[in-house]
Amino acid sequence: MKGVYMDNGATAFPKAPGVAEAMANYINNVGCNVGRGAYEDAFAAQRTVLETRELLCELFNCDKVENVVFTKNITESLNAIMKGLLKAGDHAIISSMEHNAVTRPLNSLSKKGVEFSRAKCHQDGQLDLESVKSLIKENTKAIIMMHASNVCGTVLDLEGVGRIAKEHGIFFIVDAAQTAGVLEVDMKKLGADAIAFTGHKSLLGPPGMGGFVINDRLCGQVEPFIEGGTGSTSESEEQPHFMPDKFESGTQNIVGIYGLNASLKFLKEKGIESIRRHELEMTMEFIKRVKELPGVRLVGREGKEGRVAVVSIDFEGSDNAEIGFALEHEYQISTRVGLHCAPSAHKTLGTFPQGTVRFSFGYATTLEQVEYAANAIKKTLELME
Ligand SMILES: Cc1ncc(COP(=O)(O)O)c(C=O)c1O
Repeated sequence: MKGVYMDNGATAFPKAPGVAEAMANYINNVGCNVGRGAYEDAFAAQRTVLETRELLCELFNCDKVENVVFTKNITESLNAIMKGLLKAGDHAIISSMEHNAVTRPLNSLSKKGVEFSRAKCHQDGQLDLESVKSLIKENTKAIIMMHASNVCGTVLDLEGVGRIAKEHGIFFIVDAAQTAGVLEVDMKKLGADAIAFTGHKSLLGPPGMGGFVINDRLCGQVEPFIEGGTGSTSESEEQPHFMPDKFESGTQNIVGIYGLNASLKFLKEKGIESIRRHELEMTMEFIKRVKELPGVRLVGREGKEGRVAVVSIDFEGSDNAEIGFALEHEYQISTRVGLHCAPSAHKTLGTFPQGTVRFSFGYATTLEQVEYAANAIKKTLELME
């Protein structure tokens, strides 16, 4: 990466130190499958896979190591849970800020008789808990919600949702794409039955690696949507019911698991809180420098509370795509322009259909980069006057 990378909301760069080496080590020195061989290298790979589950259990405060399931990304995790759980006649509640990873599978399920409703969010992206309550019906089976917005960074009040879900005996599934690795994501504190995660964003691991943690109550209700060989109970042609084999058919992305293992160890050593502090410091510096510029409309929250390091700007009176293009072309600053796979969030924030230019910071973002980006925005706006 030669330029200034400010698209960590899409995927983190750089990845954690040690990720590339761990993946290369698997390819060069280990190389075998897990659960399918009784020889030393296979056991070594198995130990790394188990250790990765343990690290994730610790991160999400999940009780059982076998209830950590690997998938290729959070989109697959959310599909696996929603499509394995929701049947014709069921109702689900989401927020109006959701990513297409939630809304598209639900739209497809709605053609098969599953209903869903969107709880209102305020103009800063925060959830209206009263709206969640008002949408609960007799047949409401699940609430599926993001922990933080990938458009404006607002952290949703999910503890409140967890309490409501518990009171009504509804399953609660959390999309932690933008928070895992930068914010505490505690299954118990959130009152969540499942937390879905992706490895390549703030978990600082490789792309193609994600998963979910799930409790026994929800696990028992979710049918696997991929079935096949697991290396276990080979005498049976039925999918095993035990975890994690129930949801992990076919050869897993072991090289990805090695990478995620290294990034989780880095996060543990560095401490999520210190990464969060740094990212928020960069975010606040950026906001301070750009918020008074003419034509800049900050979308979401201006303050540091209840947010992650994702900032969206609607350049009023300009074409957001043109600004994004100029930043890339003239200053080599990578941002993400448009609707960020979340049209409903943009409708909530009042930025549909024009979208925004999104700047998202990471653990390696420096103050110099923030100053450089703020100056580049200033000069670009001056040129456009
Ligand atoms: C909130 C949210 N959910 C889901 C996703 C999908 O992530 P992935 O592409 O890793 O499946 C993203 C990625 O942009 C996201 O920000």
